[in-house]
Amino acid sequence: MNSIANPKPRVLSGMRSSGQLHLGHYHGVLKNWIRLQHEYQCFFFVADWHALTTEYENPDIIANSVWDMVIDWLATGVDPASATLFIQSHVPEHAELHLLLSMITPLGWLERVPTYKDQQEKLREKDLSTYGFLGYPLLQSADVLIYKASLVPVGEDQVPHIELTREIARRFNHLYGREKDFAERAEAAAKKMGGKNAKLYQALRKQYQEQGDHEALVVARTLLEEQQNLSLMDRERLLGYLEGGGRIILPEPQALLTPASKMPGLDGQKMSKSYGNTISLREDPAAVERKLRTMPTDPARVRRTDAGNPDKCPVWQLHEVYSSDDVKQWVQQGCRSAGIGCIECKQPVIDAVLVEQAPMRERAAEFVANPDAVRKIVLEGAEVARAVARETLTEVRQVMGLNYFS
Ligand code: TRP
Ligand code: SF4
Repeated sequence: MNSIANPKPRVLSGMRSSGQLHLGHYHGVLKNWIRLQHEYQCFFFVADWHALTTEYENPDIIANSVWDMVIDWLATGVDPASATLFIQSHVPEHAELHLLLSMITPLGWLERVPTYKDQQEKLREKDLSTYGFLGYPLLQSADVLIYKASLVPVGEDQVPHIELTREIARRFNHLYGREKDFAERAEAAAKKMGGKNAKLYQALRKQYQEQGDHEALVVARTLLEEQQNLSLMDRERLLGYLEGGGRIILPEPQALLTPASKMPGLDGQKMSKSYGNTISLREDPAAVERKLRTMPTDPARVRRTDAGNPDKCPVWQLHEVYSSDDVKQWVQQGCRSAGIGCIECKQPVIDAVLVEQAPMRERAAEFVANPDAVRKIVLEGAEVARAVARETLTEVRQVMGLNYFS
């Protein structure tokens, strides 16, 4: 697939490598990716450098978790035929862009990112007063901007990082997108679209600038996307001219908020490794059964003959994820009247989790048995990613005065 010529909006997201994924990741992030991969041009990568910012003392856990993570993605249905999958450190262009962006990033912007202090507090056992950790969100900005991604699926906690990315892009464009005779060059570029399109562009620009009509802005951007005979430079000029600034070399991305996962853990809190309440994606069936059978229920339901209340029971939350209306009705009725026992009540959940995991376990086993296939997928992914990343970097080097031989 030629991703440079692909006109679908580009989506990019990364996941820190941090051990095996669990059902919370599946119901939260991965199902979302699997849906997006059919609608957009998707790039998904393992953020191994980001993992190193906090795990620099245990590098051995990173290598293993990278492979586990890629296998988990593939096992759940993230499809290398639809999305580009790769490992961050295989695309060193991210690092160069990070370095170049660091030149224009005020320290205060990084110090003010809320996750900086939060994570330092939370991970007190680690020394995170490092240069790399402060730069974590800037590396993330480079991850996004190097692909000129329009949409970045992330959870709520990551939104400030996307905000920072937008500010960095704006600052970059402001510093390096200004050129002499900008307006004249933009006007000349508009003419290259041909009379009809040029006229439409000018009308939309006026509508946006004079009336703040956002719809016009969106239509004009699409119009520019569709122009085959514009050079990259001219397209950037026209994008910038629309909004009144200079060339837009690094477009501002938008966060695509991942709906909070409703997946509860075994104790009713959100499923999370740090709470020790997870079922991993590839958990062995016997362990799944044991974990679910022994999970807590409504604490007021001590004896089988006591009536219970599903609202106070973590098993009910699992029924909300997995069960049909009929089963849910059976639970509500049976629990409140002491008509069913808790083990009986858990059985449909156990069955549903096992059914959900069976194909994942099978596919994961195939990839575990065939590590070369996994390697090939991420190496090919890195090549596709690098072709896009190199283009951006060439432009960035040029506007930053680093093009000595052309
Ligand atoms: N920081 C993100 C997280 O912890 C992972 C990440 C790294 C990322 N680079 C990214 C997410 C780029 C989106 C885009 O979840
Ligand atoms: Fe929970 Fe079901 Fe037992 Fe009611 S019957 S307490 S919902 S496990």
